[in-house]
Amino acid sequence: MDTAAARVTCDFLVIGTGVAGLCSALNAARHGSVILISKDRADECNTAYAQGGIACVMEEGDSFQAHVTDTLNAGAGLCHEDVVRDIVQAGPARIRELVELGLHFTTRGEIDAGNGPDAEAYDLGREGGHTRRRVLHAGDITGREVVAVLLKACRNHPNIRIFENHIAVDLISTRHVNWQKENWCLGAYVMEKATCRILTFVSKFTVLATGGAGKVYLYTTNPDVATGDGVAMAWRAYAEISNMEFFQFHPTCLYHPKTKPFLISEAVRGEGAVLKIRRRGEFVEFMQDYHPMGSLAPRDIVARAIDNELKRSGEACAYLDIRHKDEGFLRRRFPNIHGHLLDLGIDMAKDLIPVVPAAHYCCGGVRTDVKGKTTVRNLYAVGEVGCTGLHGANRLASNSLLEALAVAHNAIADAVGRFTSEQPPVRPEQIPDWNAGDAKDSDEQIVITHTWQELRRFMWDYVGIVRTCKRLERAKNRIRLLRNEIEKYYWDFILTPDLVELRNLASIAEMIIDCAGTRQESRGLHCNSDFAENTRPPGQDTVLRRPSRAAVWLE
Ligand code: FAD
Ligand code: SIN
Repeated sequence: MDTAAARVTCDFLVIGTGVAGLCSALNAARHGSVILISKDRADECNTAYAQGGIACVMEEGDSFQAHVTDTLNAGAGLCHEDVVRDIVQAGPARIRELVELGLHFTTRGEIDAGNGPDAEAYDLGREGGHTRRRVLHAGDITGREVVAVLLKACRNHPNIRIFENHIAVDLISTRHVNWQKENWCLGAYVMEKATCRILTFVSKFTVLATGGAGKVYLYTTNPDVATGDGVAMAWRAYAEISNMEFFQFHPTCLYHPKTKPFLISEAVRGEGAVLKIRRRGEFVEFMQDYHPMGSLAPRDIVARAIDNELKRSGEACAYLDIRHKDEGFLRRRFPNIHGHLLDLGIDMAKDLIPVVPAAHYCCGGVRTDVKGKTTVRNLYAVGEVGCTGLHGANRLASNSLLEALAVAHNAIADAVGRFTSEQPPVRPEQIPDWNAGDAKDSDEQIVITHTWQELRRFMWDYVGIVRTCKRLERAKNRIRLLRNEIEKYYWDFILTPDLVELRNLASIAEMIIDCAGTRQESRGLHCNSDFAENTRPPGQDTVLRRPSRAAVWLE
């Protein structure tokens, strides 16, 4: 292994190449040099799997107020209304920018296969919790198209250098050089995965855009990159973290032994699919017993209802029924889902689709304002890694791509406004390179695989869709043990990407457990059957602050 130190400097370091990172990089590149890093291929991220689309007010029959109200209702009394308003109103401008870059959203003519007067208008999808059709989509591969358009623009930009297969290990903050006054972010230590060599990236501004943490649970819709690295790194750099107890479970992940996790978009229910469960050999609807919006109720309610029905009936899965729609429509509206199911022998025009809930979206994250500003100076957190207050206790469907677009724009505008005035208290040459100490090569990789599996299993069993105080207590004891073991392993052995991710996942698990243990009520996605449901506004955010590890309520 080549251990020679290497350092790179730039104006903006952007960690992550999903919608949040790519948009941040493109905006920043107009003002300075940008380094963009992704720990896998640049197009492997949660964004690339987004199906439903981007919620945005586009038509006269809709209004910003209606979108705000739907978001607040889904958020169960915990959304920050000023942030909701800001992001919802930014929607049309951010969508125009995507279209100017070449993104094609599906039109009505493409779905109805006709040339009617509104054939050129965008086809708007509907999803759970939305009282209107307002979700712009590119077929059912919206995220893949978004990444393709943005990544192409980034690759072509002379001010952007992209480092793929490079994993950020830790942020560099003024605490690293024992500067005890205000905490500034100065860049990050980043591992080149092919060699495990750790490079020093020094930057004026750092944007965390590392996405979600679905891999903390055994069953998830998220790809392997979603290990919560950004939240864990920000925590180690003394940033405040918020609302980690609110992990969203998507109600309808395909249940099939022969496929990797595959989402059946909520847009399928938006086009009329209903949820059913098998009772005494019959397939019966059940969502009307749980919510007036039935199968299109907000996601937390639908996921809990399915969980309850599965536990009551002992069945392995629930089913989506959209057999009343004709095959041509389903193929035009959901080409990817329709094709994927056909490959598995399921014809959605004729067969029921087996589904189960799975961990999907981390509503909590690094605490920021609507500009993505964290509590560490010159560190921004944008996209799923951040917690702006938009989602509150439960995210409204298709609001996260919108949030990432809006906050990326705001963050770079804020940084640019301070570009010349910001002088960090530490000179770049004072920043030390990574010190590997006398760590050795590990001959016990099994420890990592075993711990990884154990952690994801107990998080699913004890800190899943429905929690109790006793289960949370058990989880807390387990995570303490695992964290101690991982920390010891971390300092004794040479770092590998797997070890970096495992340590981060354990840290995320501990934050979820701590936040969940602190909340003495059931609200939105946090359902603790020892406490009654409370959706009254204003709820209080949970905030984790170092060095006192205890979660505290925000004043
Ligand atoms: P991501 O797109 O996940 O990107 C994270 C990036 O960070 C990746 O490039 C990754 O490699 C990189 N990274 C992570 N850690 C490190 C590290 N340590 N070092 C270097 N790089 C790192 N939302 C909607 O609004 N509408 C939808 O229709 C929708 N559908 C969805 C469907 C699925 C199956 C899933 C999983 C999510 C869906 N979501 C949807 C949620 C939405 O896709 C995500 O919240 C959003 O795309 C997150 O974007 P992001 O840029 O923050 O993170
Ligand atoms: C979906 O298409 O069901 C996912 C939408 C989202 O997560 O916002």
